[in-house]
Amino acid sequence: MKTAENHIPFDRFGNWFEKAEKSEPDDHNAFALATATPDGCPSVRMVLLKDWGQDGFVFYTNYDSRKGGELESNAHAAMLFHWKSLRRQIRIEGSVEKVTGVEADAYFSTRPRDSQIGAWASQQSRPMEGRLTFEAAIAKIAAKYAVGKIPRPPRWSGFRIKPQVMEFWTNKKFRLHEREQFIRDGSGWTVRMLYP
Ligand SMILES: Cc1cc2nc3c(=O)[nH]c(=O)nc-3n(C[C@H](O)[C@H](O)[C@H](O)COP(=O)(O)O)c2cc1C
Repeated sequence: MKTAENHIPFDRFGNWFEKAEKSEPDDHNAFALATATPDGCPSVRMVLLKDWGQDGFVFYTNYDSRKGGELESNAHAAMLFHWKSLRRQIRIEGSVEKVTGVEADAYFSTRPRDSQIGAWASQQSRPMEGRLTFEAAIAKIAAKYAVGKIPRPPRWSGFRIKPQVMEFWTNKKFRLHEREQFIRDGSGWTVRMLYP
């Protein structure tokens, strides 16, 4: 097996991510996020990547949502990007930590005002009586914060996935695809090819 310096898979991610931004019609930063209960029952949904670097991959959500609860009780996740326009996928697995309040505040302040109101009004993943109840909650929050800055809801924040494994998959003819897997090894990575 080969070894690689820490920045190598992140450079590769950046290169592919940049290409996806140019070629995908929308939401090139959308990825499937898999979480699991402590006894191993999985669940998956799409979220948006909002920040990334050598310290990990960040998305934002409601900590009281299903994914939030699963990550608070089992801090491991897997993420999957599939860009049809590039015929490439990236799989990432790792442990998860919460972003700092300062980091979450900074991101929340960049969101459109209506999205900020929505973050307060939505009890994400919990049963809803009807759309009208939700609209009433939105109107109430909008009136409460009619003027001035809207603070971040305390349970609305981010998670950072710290990669232990990153796999880059490229489509090839006749399903003879290329797979290159990086596995965290101290301050660097070991690298291997996998059969398609
Ligand atoms: C393209 C796309 C992007 C999404 N981005 C987010 C996101 O960044 N954060 C989020 O909480 N939900 C996002 N959602 C909604 C989630 O897929 C999901 O419905 C919601 O978070 C509740 O998931 P849960 O019940 O498993 O916690 C997105 C959905 C789609 C289709």
